[in-house]
Amino acid sequence: MISSSGSSFDLLCCLVVLLILPFSSLSSDPDSLQDFCVANLNSSISVNGFPCKPDAEVTSHDFFFDGLTKEGNTTNVFGSKVTTGNVLEFPGLNTLGISMNRVDFAPGGLNPPHSHPRASETGVVIEGKLLVGFITTNNVYHSKVLTAGQMFVVPKGLVHFQLNVGEGKAHTVTAFNSQLPGAAVAPPTLFASSPAIPNGVLTKAFQVEDDVINAIKSNCSFLLFQSVRGLLQRLCTDFDDSNNVTIELHDIPGGEDAFDLCAKFCYGIITINLISHDLLPAFCAAKFLRMTESVEQGNFVQKLEAFFISCILDGWKDTVVTLQTTIKLPH
Ligand code: GLV
Ligand code: MN
Repeated sequence: MISSSGSSFDLLCCLVVLLILPFSSLSSDPDSLQDFCVANLNSSISVNGFPCKPDAEVTSHDFFFDGLTKEGNTTNVFGSKVTTGNVLEFPGLNTLGISMNRVDFAPGGLNPPHSHPRASETGVVIEGKLLVGFITTNNVYHSKVLTAGQMFVVPKGLVHFQLNVGEGKAHTVTAFNSQLPGAAVAPPTLFASSPAIPNGVLTKAFQVEDDVINAIKSNCSFLLFQSVRGLLQRLCTDFDDSNNVTIELHDIPGGEDAFDLCAKFCYGIITINLISHDLLPAFCAAKFLRMTESVEQGNFVQKLEAFFISCILDGWKDTVVTLQTTIKLPH
């Protein structure tokens, strides 16, 4: 027999489950509460996302983005380039829960294993022939070779990659159910983090000796320097023993944090959250590291200049904050 208190308890449980279910099944950015909320990337207010630009300042320009029309420069060790079209480049996406990327591949190029913590990904191959694969949390590997017009999907958070297996170039356009999906890229995450993961963790995790981890770490730091080879080339001609050039991070104009931003930029896939406070230190470090157009198209110096013109000079407050950061910079 069910007592009356038992049945009201059951009823209460059912009600709680019914109330909670819709929330637990939300798997993308939350729904917006207005038509749009063009991101004010420079606001000093910190919220989950970005505050909205005042309506009076919104223009049609905020709802269009041509960053994915250009082919990415694939002359790097991976032979691939991810061009992102998320809220940071395209503020009109703010609160809408969607974004897109373009990924270009040289022949043999690889978009290395990575995962997006905040989004599922779908993509369509536009040109070439790509091996697309992802691995489930049960370590099952799903893959297929795709050609132009064919699509793929990668469930949220799972590790995936694309490899160009065709004769020529390839490119794909990808879409996400998040305005800022984030990307954890396996090689730099594990072997070039800052500060570094202790070798003891990695030797145990991969069941190898120290020298194997050191070799991978030094390869990964080489990856890091792709966009800064301007400086490396100069250092290597200035020093006789070019195999042994030491760079002291605290000596870098702009400081260690600015170097960190430059390093993140080098990986291309990592999203950089830039605020007015960081701009000048990052600019000094990027200039010092020679991250210029002559080394790589769309390099960091040019991106920072564009950010300065379009975002900082837009308002007095950010201009003043940026000016104030000059106090801490070397003369
Ligand atoms: C491809 O995997 C992408 O993240 O754009
Ligand atoms: Mn991806």
